[in-house]
Amino acid sequence: MAALPAEAGAGSVAASKITIRGLSIDYVSEDGRARHRALEDLSLEVRENEFLSVVGPSGCGKSTLIAAIAGFLRPRSGSLLLDGKPIGGPGADRGVVFQEYALLPWRTVLDNVTLGLRLRGMPRSERDRIGRQFLEMINLVEAADKYPHQLSGGMKQRVAVARTLANQPEVMLMDEPFAAVDAQSRMTLQEELVRIWSQSRLTVLFVTHSVEEAVFLGDRVAVLTPGPGRLKAMIDIDIPRRQRRWAELGNNLLFATLRQRVLDLVRGAGTPP
Ligand SMILES: Nc1ncnc2c1ncn2[C@@H]1O[C@H](COP(=O)(O)OP(=O)(O)O)[C@@H](O)[C@H]1O
Ligand SMILES: [Mg+2]
Repeated sequence: MAALPAEAGAGSVAASKITIRGLSIDYVSEDGRARHRALEDLSLEVRENEFLSVVGPSGCGKSTLIAAIAGFLRPRSGSLLLDGKPIGGPGADRGVVFQEYALLPWRTVLDNVTLGLRLRGMPRSERDRIGRQFLEMINLVEAADKYPHQLSGGMKQRVAVARTLANQPEVMLMDEPFAAVDAQSRMTLQEELVRIWSQSRLTVLFVTHSVEEAVFLGDRVAVLTPGPGRLKAMIDIDIPRRQRRWAELGNNLLFATLRQRVLDLVRGAGTPP
């Protein structure tokens, strides 16, 4: 067997896709007098092709973290790197899915999904072909010509996910995307997301205040402290992808144990490992 070139080591299993070091973010009032610290000295890594869940109470800075990685906010201090390079602003390499579906009501489902491709100047026939592929992936091909108001909340959120995926980002940033969806659809969406992610080479950072959701989805779960958010603990979720179905995990002892451990950490009872 040929020896690996020296630099190959860096590209092995745990290559860091997003590196956050000592990140602090302040919101400053318009007159510059009031300052609110949303994140403080937060350090964490999202590995290449990893699904990292971030969980923490409301107001701990989850949306702030997403906005900072998306390039919408500047750090007060610390660094934010994507593939080892500083994040200077928004870019097509990162796609964001918000809790609000943010679909354009006057455009069809297909046109919503292909919006990003259109903005990049891709001809209609080609972007429609790609758009349909992604609608197929989320089992919504039959809704291609419908308008957002004709869809349920769960369907709208699937369209929002398809729209982000159609832009073929390297990183998908998800900010409580299923929070407004009813419980039944939410479970289906979670299972679908596991399936879609398993088939892709995406790196996902998924923030939620739901411990159960974080553990169901994540390769690891980062627990943040109440605001200003810092990293409190990082928990490995060693449950194989193929077992990530609600019918199966309902009676899974490891799932129950991990869920309890993360819940204790979020509530402040658990001690970080
Ligand atoms: N635009 C803003 N101006 C001032 N404070 C803000 C702003 N956005 C968020 N905050 C505050 O920053 C903290 C973190 O907010 P956020 O990131 O939205 O938390 P989370 O998403 O975890 O609920 C909260 O205390 C919130 O009130
Ligand atoms: Mg939020």
